[in-house]
Amino acid sequence: MNTKKLLKDYTTEQLCELERTVQKRYDEFVAAGISLNMARGKPASDQLDLSDDMFSLSLKEEGFLSSDNNDCRNYGLLYGIPECRKLFGEILGVDAENVMACGSSSLNLMFDFIAQCCYSGIAGCKPWMFNKNRKFIAVVPGYDRHFAIAQYFGLEMINVPMTSKGPDMDMIEDIIKDPDVKGMFCVPKYSNPDGITYSDETVKRLAAMKPAAKDFRVIWDNAYAVHDFYDEGDKLLNIFDEAEKYGNQDNFVAFTSTSKITYAGAGVSAIGTSKNNFDEISKRLTLQIISYDKINQLRHCRVYKSMDDIKAQMKKHAAILRPKFSTVLEILDRELSGLGIALWNEPKGGYFISLDVVTGSAKYVGELCKNAGLTLTGVGATYPYGKDPEDKNIRLAPSCPSVEELKVASEIICLSVILAACKELKGE
Ligand SMILES: Cc1ncc(COP(=O)(O)O)c(C=O)c1O
Repeated sequence: MNTKKLLKDYTTEQLCELERTVQKRYDEFVAAGISLNMARGKPASDQLDLSDDMFSLSLKEEGFLSSDNNDCRNYGLLYGIPECRKLFGEILGVDAENVMACGSSSLNLMFDFIAQCCYSGIAGCKPWMFNKNRKFIAVVPGYDRHFAIAQYFGLEMINVPMTSKGPDMDMIEDIIKDPDVKGMFCVPKYSNPDGITYSDETVKRLAAMKPAAKDFRVIWDNAYAVHDFYDEGDKLLNIFDEAEKYGNQDNFVAFTSTSKITYAGAGVSAIGTSKNNFDEISKRLTLQIISYDKINQLRHCRVYKSMDDIKAQMKKHAAILRPKFSTVLEILDRELSGLGIALWNEPKGGYFISLDVVTGSAKYVGELCKNAGLTLTGVGATYPYGKDPEDKNIRLAPSCPSVEELKVASEIICLSVILAACKELKGE
């Protein structure tokens, strides 16, 4: 199977022969009764163990006061404790005074922000909900939960393909001429699922955008801001510095969390944005909550006092994640490269590998994997409405299984990709 001949150049007999060999190997996995899951980008248990210092530390002994002497057990400090705002300011590249340190989920903050735009409007414009033709740009492939939020609020999604430098900016610059287009989701560093970091040029073009809609907002979801696998991680330009050059800083609202730094679903999330957006969000937040969980914020900031502490923590995560990603990438390379039936990225951080297979065969690959006991992210989920128009993209999430499990899972994936490709090429 390690031939470098393109599968499309195989004769029908050669395809049948290959299919037979691969089917035999695949059947052995089916017979083994495997049960593996690579569906979601969750940290593995040993990654969660890395943050357990937060539980050996005794707030009772060290005191419950934030750096500005507020008792974190009480109401108050709607925007979070100062040390937490400062830390997130550094992660997001925003002044601490423009940061809100909030609860445990950044997705929740994005949902609430879009709900606000839909229900009350932003920038003095009418609520998005009053616009029957409201639209949102969906960078594809992308994060299923972003798409689900847009769908929930009835924002019609316009697919814009991802390139190796970020979203196709020519298309975006054209689409935003339509005043019904109200915004877009961006995962600018180690994007979900491609693992691509936007190039300087892409960031600059996004920063310079002058959308027809005055209330156009970019949900700058910097979920993987510090999630590098190597000391030399990808560098992302600061969107707010760039946008300021054009007076466009209100176009951007940044989000992040410690879900994949400390505990997934039990960390701290944050918003970083311009003064105007901050004030608008603040008006809603004041009604929505009296105070977020500052005890958790304090616990986080006692253990992770500075960016250096965060970087040290991320190195430990990287040491666990790197071999897992390498395992999958090596097997993809060994089994699939040279056949002309699959393309994938080699991310330098983040949580995913995006695999493109022969057009029209991704769903079948997903079924074959399922049959062999391997659950992948639902095929199609990386596109709005769960519909991949070319049926070719599959998201792989290598973080949770062990390296041994990933060896098996990756083999099953490769065999399934080849079987599905043979079927397509034979026109079955
Ligand atoms: C791009 C992106 N944004 C947000 C989230 C969820 O973040 P949180 O746990 O802060 O809600 C994820 C989780 O996988 C993600 O991949």
